[in-house]
Amino acid sequence: MSTAIPELSTFDEQELDQAFAALTAEVQDQAKLLTNEEAIEAFRLNWLGRKQGRLGQISAAWLKSAPVEAKKSLGMRFNKLKTLVEEQRAATGDPETRAIGALDVTLPGTTRRIGAEHPLIKTMAEIVSVFQRMGYSVGLGPEVENDFNNFESLNFPPNHPARDTQDTIFIAGQESKPQRDRLLLRTHTSPVQTRAMEKHRPPIRVVAPGKVHRSDTPDASHSPIFHQVEGLAVDTNITFSDLKGTLDHAMKELFGSDVKTRFFPSFFPFTEPSADVQVTCFKCGGKGCRLCKMSGWIELLGCGMVNPKVLAFHKDNGYDPEKVSGFAFGMGVERIAMLKYGIDDIQLFFHGDVRFLEQFA
Ligand code: DAH
Repeated sequence: MSTAIPELSTFDEQELDQAFAALTAEVQDQAKLLTNEEAIEAFRLNWLGRKQGRLGQISAAWLKSAPVEAKKSLGMRFNKLKTLVEEQRAATGDPETRAIGALDVTLPGTTRRIGAEHPLIKTMAEIVSVFQRMGYSVGLGPEVENDFNNFESLNFPPNHPARDTQDTIFIAGQESKPQRDRLLLRTHTSPVQTRAMEKHRPPIRVVAPGKVHRSDTPDASHSPIFHQVEGLAVDTNITFSDLKGTLDHAMKELFGSDVKTRFFPSFFPFTEPSADVQVTCFKCGGKGCRLCKMSGWIELLGCGMVNPKVLAFHKDNGYDPEKVSGFAFGMGVERIAMLKYGIDDIQLFFHGDVRFLEQFA
């Protein structure tokens, strides 16, 4: 790049016009070449650099030696040139406007990738909205819970063997606290039942989506972090038929009106009686395929009538087991998303691989 500063003698309008027209043309020519970092830096140094910058030199050489009556006119031209240099440089900040002088409108545009909802969040929102349409509200609870909410209030007394199936991480250094106050990573969203019953008197209908933790070794169907949607309905005269009707409707909403449901006896400390719910395989329609291990049925969730012992913890808030009854259910979001979208490895949800995630955009 040129570094010469032409000498001015008369500083009249004509001489100034000529000198600045040449400099302006030079800036414009150079600006067309600002297509890479080196060229941009060289442009900056050439015009604005502290030592060799030509604007500095021009100002030193011309402004100082100009006769008083020419200073104003010279100054205005100088400022205009400086603005031009700065504009050209600013235009290089954005790759799209770089080399504005040589804009090629036939080049493909810069496409910005638009994010999409993660398939798990999408599935969780879908499940929640099925229940919202049935009049349920949404309740949330913390992922770090106390032992009382996660276990004791749900009828897992200290040392109850059912606790072993939900092994988790306890926060360290809590030995001096009573067991019920000790903090742990919640193993299910069921503690939100306890929080909801503490806060609201019956009747209540609430679903609680969220993240849970268990001490499980990761494999294709296990993850130490996963998601659940919990449900709770308590009112006068709630029966097992209400539970069956509600879940049958919810499964039809989620998987299509053709699916059938069936209920098998099961065990959960917080429900009595308890049941596992199966739906007809939505891939083969019940004929038997690999997805349903040839049985025609897929197990999807746990449920039951709220154990009177659980209600009794909240007797003072209107949950007298002699007066009200209720049902509860809980389902794993990963499992439902895997079945819905035909995903065969739970780990894929957590790897953050865009090639996987883009399929759900
Ligand atoms: N909390 C149970 C679990 O994590 C799921 C569950 C089963 C929740 C039955 C319920 C229920 O509310 O009634 O395995």
